[in-house]
Amino acid sequence: ATGLLADALGRPLRDLRISVTDRCNFRCSYCMPKEVFDRDYVFLPQSSLLSFEEITRLARIFVAHGVQKIRLTGGEPLLRRHLEALIAQLAEIRTPEGAPLDITLTTNGSVLAKKARALAAAGLKRVTVSLDGLDDAIFRRMNDVDFPVADVLGGIDAAVAAGLAPIKVNMVVKRGTNEHEIVPMARYFRDRYDGQVVLRFIEYMDVGASNGWRMDEVLPSAQVLERLREHWAMEPLDPTVTGETAERWRYADGRGEIGLISSVTQAFCRDCNRARLSTEGKLFLCLFATQGHDLRTLLRSGASDADITSALAAVWAGRSDRYSELRAGLPADAPAAPGGRRVEMSYIGG
Ligand code: GTP
Ligand code: 5AD
Ligand code: SF4
Ligand code: SF4
Repeated sequence: ATGLLADALGRPLRDLRISVTDRCNFRCSYCMPKEVFDRDYVFLPQSSLLSFEEITRLARIFVAHGVQKIRLTGGEPLLRRHLEALIAQLAEIRTPEGAPLDITLTTNGSVLAKKARALAAAGLKRVTVSLDGLDDAIFRRMNDVDFPVADVLGGIDAAVAAGLAPIKVNMVVKRGTNEHEIVPMARYFRDRYDGQVVLRFIEYMDVGASNGWRMDEVLPSAQVLERLREHWAMEPLDPTVTGETAERWRYADGRGEIGLISSVTQAFCRDCNRARLSTEGKLFLCLFATQGHDLRTLLRSGASDADITSALAAVWAGRSDRYSELRAGLPADAPAAPGGRRVEMSYIGG
């Protein structure tokens, strides 16, 4: 029998984020700094990656226990070969109520212009594109591989044309690095797409263990909003679903909305219904976790669906993670992550 799971804090499981590769063609300093992710960095070997069949099998089990939304992440998910084939398999899954899944993907947009149509045809519903600025020099510096911003903007156009809208654009804001891009970004997406693109501003987070995060590089969302309000009248919107990461605001003139993701200044762990599956099949219960639960060994040792279901149920039942909330109670200069090295964002996905 299927039953919906609840963790130790009463939170259901709704959102599964699946990382399909730990590689990326960018080297954003807040995520894969070049000094760490260099020529000698050892990425996962092909043999340790979950196959599409393994991912789909796990996804079916998760969906039977409440998952309604699947997000493919990386690294850069579009670097995984034949990703369309995985999307097509996932698109066949139905919830216990018979509904299709909300399938989406987080990408840096670098090859989106080429792939948007095939992704949509395979069953992808929408995409989220990471973009930290419009100014070509700033963007090239932030991706640190000299990638031109025009190609990403072309990717967003292609995604809109392929019907993947409304598209979300995620901008990580770092004080002193790209804060002057806030208003130009808002203006560009507002004027060009008339509501088909939702720009979301993300507070720079102390995720992972190699980005050298400092509180003074965080620009609180409240200040982002203040800057937007110098240019446009903004009105708050109600959340669409519980456990949403972004606080939503609309332009009073009706030309779309923006989101504020304030993991540092306003933690949203209370309703966190997200689980993360790593490229090699470990289940992580928090973005800031230090350890995952190995599902690949189960899969490869002949476990039945029932065996995997009870393992999943036990892991979720024991979940009490609420890292961002706990972090908020510590002084700004407290050492990060007691109890081990946190996993990298590029390994676990956003
Ligand atoms: P949709 O609104 O359905 O598109 O999904 P989402 O809001 O979950 O979007 P997305 O995956 O784009 O998340 C946006 C960003 O929010 C991520 O890149 C992370 O930086 C941050 N984020 C997402 N989930 C969590 C979370 O559980 N905890 C924390 N601290 N940050 C998160
Ligand atoms: N803080 C906030 N957001 C981050 N991302 C990656 N690293 C960080 C960080 N340290 C974002 C990326 C992308 C998504 C996968 O997560 O920009 O939008
Ligand atoms: Fe790659 Fe995204 Fe990390 Fe940048 S933030 S290095 S694009 S995975
Ligand atoms: Fe969920 Fe952990 Fe993020 Fe809190 S910090 S919202 S528990 S993933």
